Amino acid sequence: MSTIKATNITWHEGHVSREERQKLLKQKGCLLWFTGLSGSGKSTIAYTLEHALVQRGHLAYVLDGDNIRHGLNKNLGFSAEDRKENIRRIGEVGKLFVDTGVITMTAFISPYREDRQTARDVCGKGNFFEVFCDTPLDVCEQRDPKGLYKKARAGEIKGFTGIDDPYEAPENPEVVIDTSKHSPQEAAIILVDLLVKHGKIAALGE
Ligand code: ADX
Repeated sequence: MSTIKATNITWHEGHVSREERQKLLKQKGCLLWFTGLSGSGKSTIAYTLEHALVQRGHLAYVLDGDNIRHGLNKNLGFSAEDRKENIRRIGEVGKLFVDTGVITMTAFISPYREDRQTARDVCGKGNFFEVFCDTPLDVCEQRDPKGLYKKARAGEIKGFTGIDDPYEAPENPEVVIDTSKHSPQEAAIILVDLLVKHGKIAALGE
């Protein structure tokens, strides 16, 4: 990656404020940051929540690790350095989405505490909710939806999170969901309630 830093650049303020966009959308932008092992249910819950929010008349969008790695982050692998850059970019993209007023979900393993903290700091206080999909490794491994745990155990994939690469669990997440105990629908209800409680969306009937 180039180490050249951008110079001679100027920040431009637009004429439309975040508040005006939020008024237009009748919601407040925020980021639900899903973190957890591969197969822990991050994407499933995020997409279930996205659907539930759109059905309630809200604009919501999921940035998903596997999908983003097909495009924006296709030049990144799974070394600690690349994972850090993966999460740095998503923190920045997430911040932009929040500024548009969209209820945004990111579903990335994001194994390092420090990188998740950076994303939280970039998004700003009150905009960021860490959702820990605390599904035990053996359950994730049993599910193995992409057959990757099997390959990792066989040594065909090196540095697989939870097998021979670390996952640093959150210490103070806003929400913890064990998907071996809760369905995606139950998890989505918990998260809709969180958004209402924090004034990001209105309660039904309001
Ligand atoms: S992160 O660690 O950088 O946050 P990210 O969420 O983008 O990871 O991508 C994880 C997905 O990539 C997994 O769900 C899995 O499908 C795939 N994958 C491929 N190789 C690995 C690996 N070595 N470790 C973890 N996931 C991997």
